Amino acid sequence: MAKNNPFIVIITAFLVQSLIFSFVKAAATNITTDQHALLAFKDHITYGPVNLLAKNWSTSSSVCTWIGVTCGVRHHRVTTLNISNFGLAGTIPPQLANLSFLQVLDITNNSFSGSLPDELAQLRRLKLVNFMFNSFHVEIPSWFGSLSKLQVLLLNNNNLVGTIPLSFGNLSSLRVLDLSYNQLSDSFPSIFFNIPSLQVIYLSYNSLSGGLPSDICNYLPNLKMLHLSSNMFDGPIPSTISKCQQLQMLSLSINNFTGYIPKEIGNMSMLTKLYLGINKLHGMVPSEIGNLCNLKILALQFLNLAGIVPNTIFNI
Ligand SMILES: *[C@@H]1O[C@H](CO)[C@@H](O)[C@H](O)[C@H]1NC(C)=O
Ligand SMILES: *[C@@H]1O[C@H](CO)[C@@H](O)[C@H](O)[C@H]1NC(C)=O
Ligand SMILES: *[C@@H]1O[C@H](CO)[C@@H](O)[C@H](O)[C@H]1NC(C)=O
Ligand SMILES: *[C@@H]1O[C@H](CO)[C@@H](O)[C@H](O)[C@H]1NC(C)=O
Ligand SMILES: *[C@@H]1O[C@H](CO)[C@@H](O)[C@H](O)[C@H]1NC(C)=O
Ligand SMILES: *[C@@H]1O[C@H](CO)[C@@H](O)[C@H](O)[C@H]1NC(C)=O
Ligand SMILES: *[C@@H]1O[C@H](CO)[C@@H](O)[C@H](O)[C@H]1NC(C)=O
Ligand SMILES: *[C@@H]1O[C@H](CO)[C@@H](O)[C@H](O)[C@H]1NC(C)=O
Repeated sequence: MAKNNPFIVIITAFLVQSLIFSFVKAAATNITTDQHALLAFKDHITYGPVNLLAKNWSTSSSVCTWIGVTCGVRHHRVTTLNISNFGLAGTIPPQLANLSFLQVLDITNNSFSGSLPDELAQLRRLKLVNFMFNSFHVEIPSWFGSLSKLQVLLLNNNNLVGTIPLSFGNLSSLRVLDLSYNQLSDSFPSIFFNIPSLQVIYLSYNSLSGGLPSDICNYLPNLKMLHLSSNMFDGPIPSTISKCQQLQMLSLSINNFTGYIPKEIGNMSMLTKLYLGINKLHGMVPSEIGNLCNLKILALQFLNLAGIVPNTIFNI
């Protein structure tokens, strides 16, 4: 009976058709697609020293030999575009999204500006995006949240404005996030609490405000570095910060944190660098700090601290 069920026949036909369609679609992109994408990118370079790309990115040679381009061994498609330190200026065209095998996109230390096109959301294989030290003066687009394999995202030292998009909560593979030296506002993003893989968070030199959530370490147990310096954070330093037992570097300096330095910080045995200076902290430096046997830097300048630095410091 089931064999002749017209419904099943139609479904099967439909499945076969979609399968064929996806094969055709996959076959339709090849290294020529990558070449067109990179040539479109080249067309959007407005300045470069001795026209580096104009000479090197020539159609007479394979894209896989072009400077800054690496192809994969298996598919012979572009997997890495690394043009860091090339001294280029320009914009990023939507055609770049046709580099469908791209895993690494590194354009650090150039002068790229303009928008970050929505089409780049198609680059689903991206693991590392490094746009640091460029001139992007836009809001961070929410499409970054679609890059589910992204492990490292470096957008620091641009002029990014607005808030950190909620879609970042979908970056379930993210380990390293650097958004420092921008003009981002709002509070410490609770969306980070969806990303337990996070190990390194740099948010320093922005305009973030509000308190540091006391449950941060329940959600981010793997945190190794937390940089929040030079923002407008206020309120107490939660004593529960000591639950981040992997933390090696904690920088809260140049904010408006108030209250005491929690003695529980003395439990954070991995801590090597602790920056708390230029805040509104008061009271004593807790003697427990002397338990931090790995501590190499302790910065406490310009605090309203009473008393003297405890002798236990000299244990370190
Ligand atoms: C890439 O595919 C196009 C058709 O989509 C074809 O004309 C071209 O020859 C292919 N290029 C290579 C290098 O296979
Ligand atoms: C482009 O640069 C690469 C790396 O420096 C070099 O190996 C290649 O030969 C150059 N290609 C051309 C056409 O100049
Ligand atoms: C890109 O190239 C630079 C200089 O060659 C190198 O230092 C950097 O590690 C590369 N980026 C990635 C992600 O491999
Ligand atoms: C940035 O790139 C320029 C060349 O455009 C180079 O001279 C400079 O050393 C690079 N800076 C860093 C930190 O690599
Ligand atoms: C490349 O990207 C452009 C713009 O996003 C698009 O119109 C075009 O169809 C793409 N080409 C291929 C071969 O995928
Ligand atoms: C996260 O991803 C899910 C499923 O892909 C989607 O439904 C949701 O809207 C995304 N959330 C955000 C904040 O983008
Ligand atoms: C701290 O708060 C004062 C107002 O109480 C404000 O003027 C100052 O800019 C704040 N500093 C920082 C670093 O947020
Ligand atoms: C953390 O430190 C406090 C006070 O210094 C202490 O009472 C507590 O037992 C410590 N907790 C852990 C998990 O070491």
